[in-house]
Amino acid sequence: MAETARQATRPQLTSSAQPSNFVYHSGFGNEVATEALQGALPVGQNSPQKCPFGLYAEQLSGTAFTAPRHANRRSWLYRIRPSAVHRPFQRIDNGQLESDFSKAVTPPHQLRWDPLPLPSAPTDFVQGLVTMAGNGDPHTQSGCGIHMYAANRSMMNRAFYNADGEMLIVPQQGRLRFTTELGLIEVEPQEIVVIPRGVRLRVELLDDTARGYICENFGAAFRLPDLGVLGSNGLANSRDFQTPVAWYQDRDDEYELVAKFMGNLWAATMGHSPFDVVAWHGNFAPYKYDLRRFNAIGSISYDHPDPSIFLVLQSVSDTPGVDSIDFAIFPPRVLAMQHTFRPPWFHRNIAGEFMGLVHGAYDAKAEGFLPGSASLHNCMTGHGPDAETFEKATNADVSKPDYIRDTMAIMFETRCVIRPTQIALDSPQLQANYFECWQGLTKRFDPNRP
Ligand SMILES: [Fe+2]
Repeated sequence: MAETARQATRPQLTSSAQPSNFVYHSGFGNEVATEALQGALPVGQNSPQKCPFGLYAEQLSGTAFTAPRHANRRSWLYRIRPSAVHRPFQRIDNGQLESDFSKAVTPPHQLRWDPLPLPSAPTDFVQGLVTMAGNGDPHTQSGCGIHMYAANRSMMNRAFYNADGEMLIVPQQGRLRFTTELGLIEVEPQEIVVIPRGVRLRVELLDDTARGYICENFGAAFRLPDLGVLGSNGLANSRDFQTPVAWYQDRDDEYELVAKFMGNLWAATMGHSPFDVVAWHGNFAPYKYDLRRFNAIGSISYDHPDPSIFLVLQSVSDTPGVDSIDFAIFPPRVLAMQHTFRPPWFHRNIAGEFMGLVHGAYDAKAEGFLPGSASLHNCMTGHGPDAETFEKATNADVSKPDYIRDTMAIMFETRCVIRPTQIALDSPQLQANYFECWQGLTKRFDPNRP
């Protein structure tokens, strides 16, 4: 395992078009230079009159040209054919994808869903997308779509790109291999992959079935949060983010290119593999991160810090300090706070909170929230531990630490109300009895017992 990790973080140049044991560059948002064929990257300029090996130069911009340097993201791609080489797009069925979040009436109560069933008919990653909720819209480049996927076959000669947003993909079951224009990435549950807006990808299943969560970020690209008084280390450390090396296919097969654009799916045909980028340099690229490497910070005296302490990645809004989307996790950790109610407290927040469980059990609710489940608690919706958890934690011995093991819960938290889709509200997985988990919280008040 340690050897694998070392190999995986060692930056290398590959010398052939074959996968080279999935080597990655280490670090978040770095400027990377990588070539799958030695000498394919032009030296000293981006757009020479003639590129090496007869390649085409193409810039892929992820931010406005004039974005400040620290926020500016773009990559230069050196490819066999420009991305413009395809036939016209035609509309195809959106399936269970939705990007108009104004269609369904948003209820103010707590919502929870059982795990999305795995498909019985052949279903690839794109066909298996189901939109659970979202806010904002792709047109204004604000807000997010929250999807789940459930698939049982790999994408065959089919590529996908999303012009509406960057995709943060959280596998819950089944390992995935992503072929992207900028290289190959493999992930397993408890890891995440982020695919920038517009980057073409193909998803292969490495196990029989796959299921997971997706946050489609219409707004500013995810970044690592500032650490403030924590100092220069902690939470998700930059070095643990991994960016692929260049990898290409030189194949003249028929390919279908599916685009998500303005909320709809479109398909175009092309006579070659879109994964034909022989070399690239820049900082606009897919990356992966192992959530088990998160350095969780907590109280060592009393009470909980706010859950913002579990922030992995943020999409900032135009208002300083107010994020459009926060991606937070609740990983294994030790709770040592004295004379404190140790599970998450009861609360109502201005934010919308969509949660999922990747692995194990969630410490605020032991029942009814299996891996693959989802919950939604919106702006000012009261929620917190269930009656059983409350009873247990109130009487627990807090002189000793609690070890929260074997768990990985995730949360997409947003500034705006998260609006469930009609598909989600009509889903047989919606738990009609979710409210009951709080009904056992009976009156404990006794004015004669301080
Ligand atoms: Fe909450």
